[in-house]
Amino acid sequence: MAMITRRDFLKTSATAVAAGLVAPSALGFPEVEHRIIGANDRINVGLIGCRNMGWGNLSDFLLHKEVDCLALCDIDQGILNNRGSEVEKKLNHKPHLFSDYRKMLEMKDLDAVIIGTPDHWHCLMFTDACSAGMDVYEEKPIANYIAECDEMVKAAKRYKRVTIVGQQQRSGKHWKAMIDYLNSGKLGKIARADVWANFNYGALGKPIPDSLVPEGVDYEMWQGPAKLRPFNQQHFHGSWRMFWSYGGGLMTDWGVHLLDMVLWGMNIKTLPKRIVGVGGKFAFPDNCPETFDTQSVVYEFDSFLMHWSHTGGVETGPYNRNYGIAFKGTNGTLVADRNNWEVIPEYDSDKKPRVEATKTISDDSDHQLHVSNFIECMKTRTFDTACTIENGSLCAKYAHLGNIAARSGLTLVYDDQKHSFTTGKEANSYLMPKYRRPWAFPSY
Ligand SMILES: NC(=O)c1ccc[n+]([C@@H]2O[C@H](COP(=O)([O-])OP(=O)(O)OC[C@H]3O[C@@H](n4cnc5c(N)ncnc54)[C@H](O)[C@@H]3O)[C@@H](O)[C@H]2O)c1
Repeated sequence: MAMITRRDFLKTSATAVAAGLVAPSALGFPEVEHRIIGANDRINVGLIGCRNMGWGNLSDFLLHKEVDCLALCDIDQGILNNRGSEVEKKLNHKPHLFSDYRKMLEMKDLDAVIIGTPDHWHCLMFTDACSAGMDVYEEKPIANYIAECDEMVKAAKRYKRVTIVGQQQRSGKHWKAMIDYLNSGKLGKIARADVWANFNYGALGKPIPDSLVPEGVDYEMWQGPAKLRPFNQQHFHGSWRMFWSYGGGLMTDWGVHLLDMVLWGMNIKTLPKRIVGVGGKFAFPDNCPETFDTQSVVYEFDSFLMHWSHTGGVETGPYNRNYGIAFKGTNGTLVADRNNWEVIPEYDSDKKPRVEATKTISDDSDHQLHVSNFIECMKTRTFDTACTIENGSLCAKYAHLGNIAARSGLTLVYDDQKHSFTTGKEANSYLMPKYRRPWAFPSY
């Protein structure tokens, strides 16, 4: 079959979309030609979702002299114009500005897109970008539903895209040193890891009334495939995380970062045997979040337990850290966060420590190294990036399973091959979203 260039393909598909012949996100085509990037070539990127993390990502991309930003996309004209001016100041040229990401994906010169939109948009944007022949830097959690994770993994494979997930700890030097330490066996038998995240923003505040859509905001496009609801500042920029249609609260927002370190450290590549979770709006029942301010989840393995807990509205926690991980070994406990990790020894009856007390400090380069890894992998067409879409998928599933367990109140056993619960079958309704028309759930 003849190779169709990205330009030919997008021209045809855009016409088909305009004519209403295909669903807006069904831009897929299995063979889309991609420019080979030479060692001295420019790498052209576009950013979708410019307000916060997306912009942070792009800023680190632009530390690389070979990277150019050709395009920005946002549904908020104020943000889009401001970020456009900032890019122009940095690069001395204006990027193309879009409010519909599908138009941006028609640009034949783009090599990669950064996706920094709220979670409910990740799956469609990621799969469309893959099918348009672009490499993708995808923010975490990769999706808002478990079924979306599976389609994203399939799309990346099918279109042979280099992808990385914004779980930047996977590139962090002190995290890698922690993994080496865990692998050394010095901690003894690790039978438990406690993971916690206590943040004020998890409780938001008291509800405020719905209001008019701010000028310059395409709210229809912000909601996209999610359930339509009136505009409210409290579920919009930044705070959407605490509403189920758009995010999964602290469980997914911090869960994917921290649980991922346990999966990595314990070399876990599959889902657990069983998940038990509880949670509710216990501390702030009258506040606006739908997600839980207080939640605990236990993930059971053959000879190991992982325990997640979060509390919104407070910022203190175990070991004087408001978030972190504690690997409990028979010789000592390793406690870690983004700043450092330390080993706290257990003692024998003669007061002799079973392991040496140590502390390793972060040099704060995780994010820059993560972006550098992606750029290098793009050039060399290396698919095994520092955090692959498979890594992101596994970890997002853990986080979503924690939420499903707490929301359903059921003990869960999930079969990742059959894509359904074998215990707690009533929870199957949480696995796949109902996309709001005209958006259609992708299938690859
Ligand atoms: N890796 C990290 O450490 C880290 C940190 C913060 C956020 N994040 C992730 O980054 C993502 C974005 O979070 P945030 O805090 O930047 O959110 P945000 O609400 O501050 O910004 C999202 C941006 O996306 C834009 N947007 C929404 N829908 C759009 C659409 N259809 N087309 C184009 N633009 C659209 C919004 O207008 C806004 O500018 C989330 O998935 C979040 O979990 C990751």
